[in-house]
Amino acid sequence: MSEQRRIVPFDGPIDADVVLPGSKSMSNRVLLAAAVARGSSSISGILRAEDTEAMLGAIQAVGAIVESTGDSAVVTGRGASDDPDNEVMIDAVQSGTTSRFMLPVLAATPGNWVLTGDDQLLRRPFGNQIEALRSLGADIAELGEPDRLPLQIRGRRLAGGRVLLRGDVSSQFLSGLLLAAPLMTEGLAIEVTTELVSRPYVEMTASVMRRFGVDVGCGEREFVVAPGAYRGTDIVVEPDASAASYFFGAASVMGGRVKVLGLGTDSIQGDVGFVDVLETMGATVTKRTDSIEVSVSGRLAGVTVDMSQISDTAQTLAAVAATASGVTEVGGIGFIQGKETRRVDAVVRELNRLGIKADVTEDGFRLVGGVTRPAVVDTYDDHRMAMSFALLGLVSEGISIDNPACVTKTFPSFWEVLESLRPERSMLKVVALDGPAGSGKSTVATALAAELGVRHFDTGAMYRAVAYAVLDSGVDVEDVDAVADVARRVDIKMDDRVVVDGVDATTAIRSHEVTAIVSATSAIPAVRSELVRLQREWVGQQDGAVLDGRDIGTVVFPDAPVKAFLTASVEVRAERRFAETTGQTLEDIEADIERRDHADSTRTTSPLKAADDAIIIDTSDRAVADIVAELVSLTRAAWEEEGS
Ligand code: DC
Repeated sequence: MSEQRRIVPFDGPIDADVVLPGSKSMSNRVLLAAAVARGSSSISGILRAEDTEAMLGAIQAVGAIVESTGDSAVVTGRGASDDPDNEVMIDAVQSGTTSRFMLPVLAATPGNWVLTGDDQLLRRPFGNQIEALRSLGADIAELGEPDRLPLQIRGRRLAGGRVLLRGDVSSQFLSGLLLAAPLMTEGLAIEVTTELVSRPYVEMTASVMRRFGVDVGCGEREFVVAPGAYRGTDIVVEPDASAASYFFGAASVMGGRVKVLGLGTDSIQGDVGFVDVLETMGATVTKRTDSIEVSVSGRLAGVTVDMSQISDTAQTLAAVAATASGVTEVGGIGFIQGKETRRVDAVVRELNRLGIKADVTEDGFRLVGGVTRPAVVDTYDDHRMAMSFALLGLVSEGISIDNPACVTKTFPSFWEVLESLRPERSMLKVVALDGPAGSGKSTVATALAAELGVRHFDTGAMYRAVAYAVLDSGVDVEDVDAVADVARRVDIKMDDRVVVDGVDATTAIRSHEVTAIVSATSAIPAVRSELVRLQREWVGQQDGAVLDGRDIGTVVFPDAPVKAFLTASVEVRAERRFAETTGQTLEDIEADIERRDHADSTRTTSPLKAADDAIIIDTSDRAVADIVAELVSLTRAAWEEEGS
């Protein structure tokens, strides 16, 4: 069993400015260019993570000199350094960029090289690039499976010229050939024979090469590098735009705002385009030259989008869309099945595990936004699975991420940065009153709220409103998914009146028919998580509140500073209800209360029970005023303490 990280949900909306580590993609391009350049380069903002350590190791193995401190390094290019006589091993570990950028460079650099990586990388494809390099005269031999690492490369000066390459498996093949092209005597023209995925990454490669003095032309299907050497330069690596997607995603699922500093309109990273998708879903996006901010109020809406150009953010979008309303369809990303894991399959499987409807489509996935259920998310040793699905844990209780350490591939400090977004807990001015039917909660809560000058929330009425909507919509009470769907869709307004989908149901929610099914509908976990979310959201908008129900002190607000559990004998409770209702005998009511007591206290999710730290009040023979007076003084003392 690997380690797991349980994500503790955020209490409310986010309000944060974030500084992120450098772009992995840009770091590895810059490091490689500096390693084969003439002279020295001074680089700052380098990401320090497994994938960039792999590149740092690789460039030193081929003879570049690296002096690094923190996220800065001075790299002196290998230039015309002696070609090694011995076989040199280059271990790309798990890094796709390191392996696909190094392979063409090794093929074009005299020496006897072996390129390998860890098991996951050995399963990833290299065929297109090997084929293209062989057509240029490279000497590459597979030491294991065809088209896979490990490879033995007998590097030699290559003339270059013209080469054909597929563009629909990974753009890293094209980027690698471009990066190696200045090492070829005649330069290189690459013709892409298929649709090109992730073009922005190719543009990034060209942009970095230009910064090192190399002339690169990017056409629709043709990419041309003129002969000429890289020249060392001073360069700052941008913050990582793919990593930024998790924080824009956090604002999207929690509401509030996140501004990523140092990433702006001039960015050379395609993944900054992720925020445009969020904008389509309803987020407000503000782009400046040196920052991008996403702010969200309310629930985003599902979207249909082609993510072939920003596929590294497709998993982030899956998490965001799982909390949005309606259907989301992501297309154009069939090729990400060849990444760290079969990413489309992984996303769909884990969403399903969390209770979200999702399917694999021809070239992506489709999902219906909803409410998650608790689960341990499998991450398949894919950093992006871990970081994306963590977002769902910010929203709902009970989500854990398996093997959280896999984020070190590209973002070792991810969990700390995510934690730094956690809103400071504002003073929680809540009184939690729980207890069984007829224990007097409602009466006490109403009077207490009036005394304290705060609002009262009868959560039982909310569960009743859902049961009423279930009856009204005609869905089968036994159909758990259909009932959960009603709970998600129904619009409940609770003031003095209870208005359900625009209809005043204040009286109807107390009907015998509703009472008969409410224990069953409120035992459904997806119904509970939706209502708990709404209850917390409501409290977030109040300055103090009294809530009564069955699970307020145990589940909804386990941190409430005042908790009371009200009880009374079944006989007393039945008599109270008998006095309030018509058309039922005392015996019927007593039987009904016993049945509901049993159902509410034996259900698996949030059973009715007193919180360990609740005060127990037997209301059988105490006056309401007396109980209220006791609770008022308790509350005033506790709220003052919270505030101090
Ligand atoms: O308090 P009441 O009788 O109006 O509540 C109606 C039903 O709602 C009750 O049978 C259990 C359920 N309920 C719940 O499960 N959790 C709450 N916080 C409040 C009520």
